Parts: sequence; structure tokens; C-alpha cells
Amino acid sequence: MSINSKSSKTISRLKNILIIGNGGRENSLAWAIQKNESVRKVYLIPGNAGSERIKKCERIKIDINNKTELVKKLAFLKIDLIVIGPEIPLANGLADFLRKKDFKVFGPGKDGAKLEYSKSWAKEFMQNANIPTANFWKVNSLEEAKKIIHSSPFPLVVKADGLASGKGVFIPHSKDECFKAAESIFNGKFGNSGNVVVLEEKIQGPEVSVFALCDGQRYILLPTAQDHKRLNEKDKGPNTGGMGAYSPAPLLTEDSLNRIIKEIIEPTINELNKRNIDYKGVIYFGLMLTTSGPKVIEYNCRFGDPECQTIMPLMDQDFLFLLEKCSMGNLTGQEKIDRHDKVSGCVIATSKGYPNEYKIGFPIKIGKIDSTDCQIFDSGTSLSKNGELLTDGGRVLSIVCQDKDFDMVFNKAYKNLKEINFDGIYFRKDIGHQVRKNFSKEN
Ligand code: AMP
Ligand code: GLY
Repeated sequence: MSINSKSSKTISRLKNILIIGNGGRENSLAWAIQKNESVRKVYLIPGNAGSERIKKCERIKIDINNKTELVKKLAFLKIDLIVIGPEIPLANGLADFLRKKDFKVFGPGKDGAKLEYSKSWAKEFMQNANIPTANFWKVNSLEEAKKIIHSSPFPLVVKADGLASGKGVFIPHSKDECFKAAESIFNGKFGNSGNVVVLEEKIQGPEVSVFALCDGQRYILLPTAQDHKRLNEKDKGPNTGGMGAYSPAPLLTEDSLNRIIKEIIEPTINELNKRNIDYKGVIYFGLMLTTSGPKVIEYNCRFGDPECQTIMPLMDQDFLFLLEKCSMGNLTGQEKIDRHDKVSGCVIATSKGYPNEYKIGFPIKIGKIDSTDCQIFDSGTSLSKNGELLTDGGRVLSIVCQDKDFDMVFNKAYKNLKEINFDGIYFRKDIGHQVRKNFSKEN
């Protein structure tokens, strides 16, 4: 990316950066941001144990809901740019609040975050803008759901309208299962997030994730990615937050990406503008490539996890400038990211039992890692009183590697994973199977 002298001037003031969030996504953002020479410190609220291993990073203990204390602290630390990672603070309007206090913020306001926190709103948004997506019905009661389920000619997908930590989507195998899913949502499985249910036509095709950094008017695309949502190999088992990813996704040829830009990305940004939504942040387009063209499965108002861990090592040190330009509304839309022709892959190691119940507190042993173009981003870890690294979540850590091709990437990732151990460690061995030429020979 080339930076003109005017923007370099603005940017040299970017010394202290704050990232809000505590996952692998936020650690990978911190890692990419600290590479920028102008950065002195990257603070994380609250971060996790892995944040402390990243250069220039420091964790801050403060309750983000205590607004007076938060603003005082950020002013004291002379924070130049704030990046909000997760959807919940965005949905609660934290970006709006901090902007009103004159901070530069990367992350949409509450109005833009609605793309993620209300699935029915997002579906109506797409309908109005003629953006291709599965047919849907918004229902307010079980009775209404029942009628639609019985009369529908399609298999249906059942979704809680609001935020549900990625667990609010059911893919039933029968009408009876469909009805039970709707019943469990209306019975309060996801609290108020289930006051409304969205029933959707089940569509088919490979899924890809596309990320657009937006400044309110203009956007630039990050390298595309493919996630692996199912827990087990061969894409079996329950849905998870994501078990691994690779980037870019070769499935998206230049032509298909151009079609996505024309039919989905630009209409989305135009529709936001039409509604006076000044979206300064990332729009995550979860897409399905169906036989009748690309369709939106969901929008998120944040970076994907683990897609973010996978993409960040492909960013040059100017990535931070892109975030700042988005926050200030002065992207040109012509910025280029130089990824030095590398590709990237990520494998997530989880606790036994995830995505259901699991135990935490097991020591993590890390042996001899080949660290050339390889990062470990902790997702759920903590430190014991003696400073020992412990498991502290369902998804524990990600190992991310880059190289010239995906075979090299995943050979290194899996070789390094042999050096990482904790009680009950689990990971899929087939991440990237779609793009590993040697995979079918080995398996
Ligand atoms: P979401 O949280 O909306 O991304 O949904 C989680 C997963 O459910 C998606 O990644 C898809 O694999 C699947 N899914 C969601 N909606 C549909 C749909 N309309 N048809 C088929 N699969 C879907
Ligand atoms: N990787 C899927 C998500 O972040 O929602």
C-alpha cells in the first residue's frame, strides 16, 4: 500500500492503540498493529494470557461498562485509536459513545451493528436492497412458526433473531426437529435474543468469508478466507465458532469476486448510506456459493474468528493506517495490501468437550516451535499464580502459518502442533483439505 505524505503525517501520531476484546482475534489484531513503527503501545481490554507475549502489548483491567472510569483511563493513556473486536460492545453502542468523547474508533455504531444483532433486520435490509439471500419468514410466536413449518415446501433453517454466541442457528433434519428448535428458542434458550425467530430456506454450496474495511462511504477488501465451522473431520459434528481457516480462498476467482462486489458488497454499502448509517468498521460477509450465484448467509459487524488470525499475518505494517483511515472516513478505496504472495492457514486447538461443556485450568506445554512465519494466538488461556499457562476456554489457541503454498503452510502448522500439549487437546487434522494437494495422497 502506498501512503501519501499527508496521511503519513496524520499517522505518525498513532502511538497508543487500544483493542477491546479477549480472544484470538484481538491478539492477532494486536500482533499486526504492533508491527507498525509508529506504535509505542498496544493496550488490550481485557486481552488474555497470550496478549502478554505480543510485543508492545499490555493488558488493562477495567470494566468497559464503567464509562466514566473508561474515558478517564483512555485519556490518561493518550489513546490515539480504538479498535473494538467483539459484537456485544458494538451492539451496545460503545463505538458511538467513544466517538462522542472524541476518540477515533474502528467499529460501527449501534445502527450498523444491527446487521449482526438482528437477523430479521438484516434480512429485510437485504430484501430492500435486492441483495441475494435465502428466502425467509420473520415469526413472533410459536403458532406462527408452526404454520410456516407445516406449509413450507423447503427444508428450513431456524435462527434466533438476536446475538447467541454463534449457537442460535439450527439446521434440522425434519419438520418435527424444526418445530422443536423454534420451540426451544421461544422458550428462552437464548433469552431476549429469541423473542423473534427467523425461518430460512435451506440453501447449499461452499461457504466463504469476505471482509470489507469501510470508512462510511468507501471500502477495501481484505484477502478472502474459508472457515471450518464443524467440529469434526469431513465437516461432521456440531457447528462451532470455527476450527480453522485458510486465506485467500482460491474458490473465489477474480470473476466470482467481481460478481460478489457488484451484487452484494456495493449494494450493502449503498443501502447503509441510504439509511444514513455511517459504518466505520469491518463488514463480514458470510457467503454461500450456490448454483444460482453467491448468497449472503449472514452479516457480522466484526472480524471473524479464526479468519482474523489467519488474515492478519498477511497484512503489511500499513494495516494500522487502513484502520485509522476507516475511523476518519478518508479511505481512497484504492489502497493495496502487499501480501508478498504468501498464503496463510490456521488450526484451532480446543478443550475436550467443546462446543458443549468442557473443563479449564489444564497446564499448556509448548515445546520447540518452528517460528518462521508461524504464530500462536491464544484464544482462551490464563496464567496461574506461578505464571504457568493454563487452558481457560473452549477454543484454547490457534496456530497460524504462512508460506508459498497451502501444503507447506499446513505441514508446518501440524508439525508445530505436535509440540503443543494440554490435557484433552483436540484439533481437526483436515483443515485446508480443499487446498492441500498432498492431502488426498496422505489420507
Ligand atoms: P450463521 O450463524 O447465520 O452464520 O449460521 C451458521 C451456519 O449455519 C452457517 O455457516 C451455515 O453453515 C449454516 N446456515 C445458516 N443459514 C443457512 C441457510 N439458510 N441455509 C443453509 N445453511 C445455513
Ligand atoms: N468464524 C465465524 C465467526 O467468527 O463468526
